[in-house]
Amino acid sequence: MKNTAIIGLQWGDEGKGKIVDFLADKFDAVVRFQGGNNAGHTIKVDGKTFKLSLLPSGVIRQKFSVIGSGVVVDPISLFDEIEKIEKNGVKISPQNLAIADNVCLVLSLHRQIDQILENKKGNNKIGTTCRGNGPAHEDKVGRRAIRICDLQHQPTLIQRVEELLLYHNALRRGLNEPEISSLTIFDELNSIKDKIAKYAVPAFEIAQRLEKCNAVMFEGAQGALLDVSYGTYPFVTSSNISLGQVAVGSCIGFENVHKTLGILKAYTTRVGSGPFPTELTDEIGEFLRIEGQEVGTVTGRNRRCGWLDLVLISHALKLSAVKEIALTKLDVLDKLAKIKICVAYKINNKTYNYLPQNIELWSKIEPVYEEFDGWQTSTLGIKSLKDLPKNALDYIKKIEELTSAKVVIISTGAKREETIIVN
Ligand code: GDP
Ligand code: IMO
Ligand code: MG
Repeated sequence: MKNTAIIGLQWGDEGKGKIVDFLADKFDAVVRFQGGNNAGHTIKVDGKTFKLSLLPSGVIRQKFSVIGSGVVVDPISLFDEIEKIEKNGVKISPQNLAIADNVCLVLSLHRQIDQILENKKGNNKIGTTCRGNGPAHEDKVGRRAIRICDLQHQPTLIQRVEELLLYHNALRRGLNEPEISSLTIFDELNSIKDKIAKYAVPAFEIAQRLEKCNAVMFEGAQGALLDVSYGTYPFVTSSNISLGQVAVGSCIGFENVHKTLGILKAYTTRVGSGPFPTELTDEIGEFLRIEGQEVGTVTGRNRRCGWLDLVLISHALKLSAVKEIALTKLDVLDKLAKIKICVAYKINNKTYNYLPQNIELWSKIEPVYEEFDGWQTSTLGIKSLKDLPKNALDYIKKIEELTSAKVVIISTGAKREETIIVN
């Protein structure tokens, strides 16, 4: 088995968690390499439902799980997640969880400012998860974040807190928000520092341990269209979500990433604001939302639903040089009489095979669709390719043809075993 990166090809929620859990038995370690607790992965195994946010999805199979340097970590949220998953029968300990000690922390001031700025934006809000991940990333590149490794040395910590508050209190004064005292931050940090320290491992040691593994899976959160550089900016998250980020965020060299598996939902969803050319605001959109149970794991918001958009996906595939796809939620389309795939955009009578970055053009996009007959029979839980109805196979073939990638896994239900391995 080769070291494999798992990358969402849409706006997140493609079913990455399910696929990572499904594949994890073939791997020795699973590494999260970007994002934070803005992610929400639902995994169903043996009648139990696991909801993961920061923990790599390999924990359910008790694989060595790493939160890599590219992730921002909210310790309170992490401890809450650990408590819940332990109640669900999965033991978490320093034996199976390592957090790179240079990860930057998400603190209460980040959650607050995320919410404050979203409120101020009114109709222009991004629709963030308000979990403080964006502001924490800003502090990281602003070189004022507090990292796990800063927590144990008091003089260092005092200086870090001062620098953090110098910035945040200036911002808060400008926004007419009350300032935060260093005491408040110290209380918060003191309450978590020993608990998080037991999982903290130098990035160098993580690299050494991963090098000894036969096969490592790198688990991406979010999806390519939310990438801060290439996504639908500014309606994006704050991290990079492509093959390029895998090595940076995982404490390893790029040559150790051998292949990429793109995760593609058989239709499209998006949570929060931003362009969505193939969005369906009619009864079919509502059908997809209900049938696919498209409600956000993190925020409980309804996900917007629409047809598969090959224009956007083609770009996502290129960004991570994806040759292989896991196609998820095929069963959600079971009852539809007709299914469409967007193959191009028309904007002011010009045809585009990519999404132009000019925001003013987005409202003028007319998707060009190819239409297919549905299969109108249940594929739920099918485990073998030969049992899929012909029209479903044709739909998959069409996706392969349009993406020049091979569909190697098909997910036909939320449960671990409801999966087809094509090869
Ligand atoms: P992630 O963020 O990419 O891990 O995806 P989420 O977990 O947020 O959303 C995917 C949802 O679809 C979860 O509730 C999964 O349990 C569910 N799911 C995953 N694969 C399938 C599938 O093939 N069919 C159906 N019906 N549900 C699925
Ligand atoms: P998983 O890993 C879907 C979206 C938010 C918002 C934008 C910015 O479950 O696929 P942020 O809080 O990151 O600043 O919000 O990004 N978003 C996601 N949408 N799935 C996710 O993760 C997401 N993580 C962030 O809804 O539109
Ligand atoms: Mg999700």
